[in-house]
Amino acid sequence: MESCCRILVLISGNGSNLQAIIDGCDENLHAEVVGVISDNPEAYGLTRAHRHEIDTSCVIAHQGENRADYDNRLNAAIERYQPDLIVLAGFMRILGEELVTKYQGRMLNIHPSLLPCYPGLNTHERVLAAKDTEHGASVHFVIPALDAGPVILQAKVPVYEGDTVEILAERVHEQEHAIYPLVVKWFSQGRLKMHDGKAWLDNEVIGVSGYAPD
Ligand code: GAR
Repeated sequence: MESCCRILVLISGNGSNLQAIIDGCDENLHAEVVGVISDNPEAYGLTRAHRHEIDTSCVIAHQGENRADYDNRLNAAIERYQPDLIVLAGFMRILGEELVTKYQGRMLNIHPSLLPCYPGLNTHERVLAAKDTEHGASVHFVIPALDAGPVILQAKVPVYEGDTVEILAERVHEQEHAIYPLVVKWFSQGRLKMHDGKAWLDNEVIGVSGYAPD
């Protein structure tokens, strides 16, 4: 990508991944966070954005509003930023097929599990209940099916006896903050693409568990 990649980040809450991406962009000449959209006006991530003088918008769901109407309003907000890349960073709404299809190949998500394991909510609780010994996070391209798009990069963490949801979430978060800025950097450098339903880095297809160097 020749010019600077315009990144729009969608959040609902704390925005620690947003922070990691902002910090990553400070060291990445190829990318700039041009806006942050939240569906939650109380999201702490909005404060983080303001600190960095990044423009913000809130698109709050109206009571009883259907998904298509919400998505139309969200799309109008997105278009104002003319993004090259949309980064979902703890954005806790499910997006409809039309919106996702419009931005397919230009929309990333981070999910707190080793996909395809544990799509959906409460992943840390489910990992502990299953007594898994390994957990992690996945960055993937977004497709209409929930948490099912091609995985780009995963980070694994161990699960120890006595771990609580909070401890495990913290361990996963730490890894998220390492992998998400890296994937954003790959995209902004023009090295990462999605086609034929797969993720590609430097014209090599990425395996189902994400990029793994030889
Ligand atoms: C992150 O752990 C992210 O993986 C998760 O929300 C958290 C947001 O944290 N996303 C999902 O669960 C999406 N299904 P943050 O607001 O501190 O970045």
